[in-house]
Amino acid sequence: MKEIFVPLPERGHADGTKVPAGRLCVTRVGQGTPMVLLHGFPLSARMWKNQWESLADQYEFIAPDLRGFGKSSKLVAGWQVDDFARDISEMLDALEIPSAIICGLSLGGYIAFEFLAQFKDKVSGLVLCNTRANADEDSIARGRRLMAERVAREGTWFVHGGMVPKLLAQENRSRKFDPDVPSFFEVLTPDSIATTQLAMAERRDFTESLSTMDVPVHVIAGEGDIITRANEMQQMASEIPSSQFTLITGAGHLTPIENPSEFNQALSKGF
Ligand code: MLT
Repeated sequence: MKEIFVPLPERGHADGTKVPAGRLCVTRVGQGTPMVLLHGFPLSARMWKNQWESLADQYEFIAPDLRGFGKSSKLVAGWQVDDFARDISEMLDALEIPSAIICGLSLGGYIAFEFLAQFKDKVSGLVLCNTRANADEDSIARGRRLMAERVAREGTWFVHGGMVPKLLAQENRSRKFDPDVPSFFEVLTPDSIATTQLAMAERRDFTESLSTMDVPVHVIAGEGDIITRANEMQQMASEIPSSQFTLITGAGHLTPIENPSEFNQALSKGF
């Protein structure tokens, strides 16, 4: 396993402003088909530890900390989900990897949809874990704006208590996992939370494009996920022409952490 820093050049932002140069901390592990692992909010590449430890003989994993998380550069105001996708494209160029399977969980899935829309030639398949194609309903977007305002006022102390119970299946809430879920919250800054929440509130809706997706797609859901429900994910999979669906038992929103053995089996099946 190698942790490297990939430099990102300055570039133009969708609104005409500049995205400053930065760097992504990227974990590279394994040999085989390249697979980019995109973490959820508010985690980091470390959430994929059980995957890169078990499947390194099948995949070459490329797992970045997204900008704003882990050891990568800070986010900038006005950041959008498509800016995360552009970072991933720059990262692949810098690593000279022409195409890869893009595997994203939740926020990572929102980025995967954007990435496919903008950089289709770089996608050999998609794994969509605990995520959705639709944009936020108004009430959810409002909740995100309130969270952004609150962290700016009060700091991050309340985020952990509000989120951890929703991330894990009910039966897992008092369990300790490796990687340990609360540890991801210890390093969060108000800025990364606020900026990412606002970006997610404004993300695009990809529902209409499901039926024209022409890469192989594997949709993976958690039986006890209350954020992205399994039945909605199964419906999403049924609208994608070349797709398969896997339900992970005994897991909520964090399927790769809560049930790594079933999750790894699903990932190792390929397409
Ligand atoms: C995530 O796990 O990335 C978040 O639950 C995404 C979201 O808040 O929609």
